[in-house]
Amino acid sequence: MDVLINVFVGLHIIGIASLLGGFLTQMKAMSAGTARFVPAMLHGALTMLVTGVALVGLNQADDMSVNTLKIGVKLAILIVILGLVYVKRDDEKIEKPLFGAVGGLTVVNIFIALLWH
Ligand code: HEM
Repeated sequence: MDVLINVFVGLHIIGIASLLGGFLTQMKAMSAGTARFVPAMLHGALTMLVTGVALVGLNQADDMSVNTLKIGVKLAILIVILGLVYVKRDDEKIEKPLFGAVGGLTVVNIFIALLWH
């Protein structure tokens, strides 16, 4: 089970790479107000949802306690990210504050995952 959990943590990290990496490629465009939610960001956000839910299930199946409040906060933040990226996936220009918010929320979720125990 440990191996399976670690495989899913690995997939979870690949999801972060896709979501945050997609955001970082758009930073220069964001300054100019011409950034867009690239497909990597949508697919990364979806990956976070699927692998995150799987990790909760695998940890519970393994009788390991999950911090439900922490996971609830991470899930709520991800729902906002996913909603914005999904609805605006075909927009050619995203306003700077909205685009910045998605990157900021992603970073917030990373630090919630790492600092909240
Ligand atoms: C942008 C969204 C997210 C980011 C950046 C993120 C980030 C991370 C990181 C860096 C880790 C590894 C660190 C650790 O093991 O504590 C992790 C683990 C984990 N994540 Fe996420 N995550 C996100 C969304 C989610 C969601 C939506 C869920 C569940 C619905 C979730 C559930 C988990 C679980 C269960 C673990 C296993 C370790 C633990 O118990 O904390 N994550 N996440």
